[in-house]
Amino acid sequence: MRAKILVVDDDPDILLSLQNRVGFMGHEPLTATNGKDALRLIGEEEPDLVLLDLKIPEIAGLDVLRQVSAASAPSESTDEETAQTPPYTTPLIVILTAYGTIELAVQAMQLGAFDFVPKPFTSDHLTVVINKALATVALHRQVETLRKEVDDQFEPIVSTSKELNAQLAMAKQAAASSVTVLLLGETGTGKEVVARAIHRWSPRSAKPFIAVNCAAFPENLLENELFGHEKGSFTGAIKREPGKIEIAEGGTLFLDEIGDMPLTMQSHLLRVLQDRTFYRVGGTQEVRTNVRFLAATNINLKQAIHQGTFREDLYFRLAVLTIALPPLRERMEDLPVLIDHFLNRPSNVGLCKRVTLSDEAFQALRHYPWPGNVRELENVLTRALILCPGTIGPEHLSLPAPTPSMISALPVDPVSDPDVLFFSYHKCMDTYSQKLIEAALRRNGWNQTKAAAELGLQRTYLTKLVRQKQIPVKPPANPSD
Ligand SMILES: Nc1ncnc2c1ncn2[C@@H]1O[C@H](COP(=O)(O)OP(=O)(O)OP(=O)(O)O)[C@@H](O)[C@H]1O
Ligand SMILES: [Mg+2]
Repeated sequence: MRAKILVVDDDPDILLSLQNRVGFMGHEPLTATNGKDALRLIGEEEPDLVLLDLKIPEIAGLDVLRQVSAASAPSESTDEETAQTPPYTTPLIVILTAYGTIELAVQAMQLGAFDFVPKPFTSDHLTVVINKALATVALHRQVETLRKEVDDQFEPIVSTSKELNAQLAMAKQAAASSVTVLLLGETGTGKEVVARAIHRWSPRSAKPFIAVNCAAFPENLLENELFGHEKGSFTGAIKREPGKIEIAEGGTLFLDEIGDMPLTMQSHLLRVLQDRTFYRVGGTQEVRTNVRFLAATNINLKQAIHQGTFREDLYFRLAVLTIALPPLRERMEDLPVLIDHFLNRPSNVGLCKRVTLSDEAFQALRHYPWPGNVRELENVLTRALILCPGTIGPEHLSLPAPTPSMISALPVDPVSDPDVLFFSYHKCMDTYSQKLIEAALRRNGWNQTKAAAELGLQRTYLTKLVRQKQIPVKPPANPSD
């Protein structure tokens, strides 16, 4: 890369030789002979690198460095644990120091200087330092670009539900601190999406977000996964390996399926949450950690505590703040925005252009109880997108027939609530048609025409069903039946 390099020195000979060296290396030199001009040029020209002498007039080199350091990505965190000064200033600064000012050079490094070159220096030495600094600049830019790409890929949380938005508002408030958050909700309700969002909203967002599925490992492997191991701690441990807690240092560790964590691991974890320290497997040295913990489960932890499979003390440590994500069937107002999101998101546009959803298909989605929640909706719509010719109809949805337990989990009674009478009528026939028809007849004073209209059936078809299923066509003799 052809870089812009600002050279600051009050000695005209040194300035000229530095300027020549920079030009010779194929970069664009800028020059300043005092601290004031240096700061002005840093602001106006945004150089990639500054070669800065410490003893310069107007504003001393160290003060120039201090000001650049203060302006370099100051941390907005109010949380002491996460408040951090960036390791290097922007732009990178290489200090030029005369012999005898090494203490100053050390101070400069503490303030965020990238490196220092003692005077007198050879042009080879200078070339090496400049190349090293520019390689770091290039690396920082790559990291920035990649981070932005990853940020852009984040799954947005789509919702209009009051209840879910109240939970999300709480999650946002909690994000600012390092408080442990427990996310509860059925499978597919978005626990991981929310965990990632909490990390993204937090002052730790530039540090790693690491997820560990506690249900995916047998006990000893989970210990190794979380805490890492020392060399020689077991056969095959040929070198020290950090665990996920160490890898997440400064960031967030998401303990997914925490309810399935084995009991002995629960006590190890409790210690980490209490003392912020742990031992690697086979290690004798305590390791301190600065990690924010988030945990999630779809099992009922209170019941697990009762059954003795989950430690109560760990529960209280984890549940400093609990976010409960409601199941999709209890926030059907989210259905239209979620459908719109899944049908129109960029990764799906290639599957099927200008796709629409028929009213019948929407009704079928609306009356399905969604045991797999948003994940199931996403899968159903993705499948429909692949199969559909342009307009998604009920035949593209291939919704499974709801089981009686799914239906009983509905917040409404499918028999007596008129709004759900339409509820998956055809799918529920085997189990519920008799009850549905009987209820409709009862409500409509045993008038089959009206009952058929309410159920959305042809009158003749209803009569056929009534006959087939031997459904009574008049009120029972005893009205209390
Ligand atoms: N509100 C939402 N907006 C957009 N997408 C969502 C939303 N909620 C969930 N999803 C999507 O649904 C899928 C499942 O979400 P997620 O993995 O977070 O669920 P989960 O609660 O962790 O499920 P499990 O308990 O099975 O692990 C993901 O693809 C996610 O992007
Ligand atoms: Mg999950």
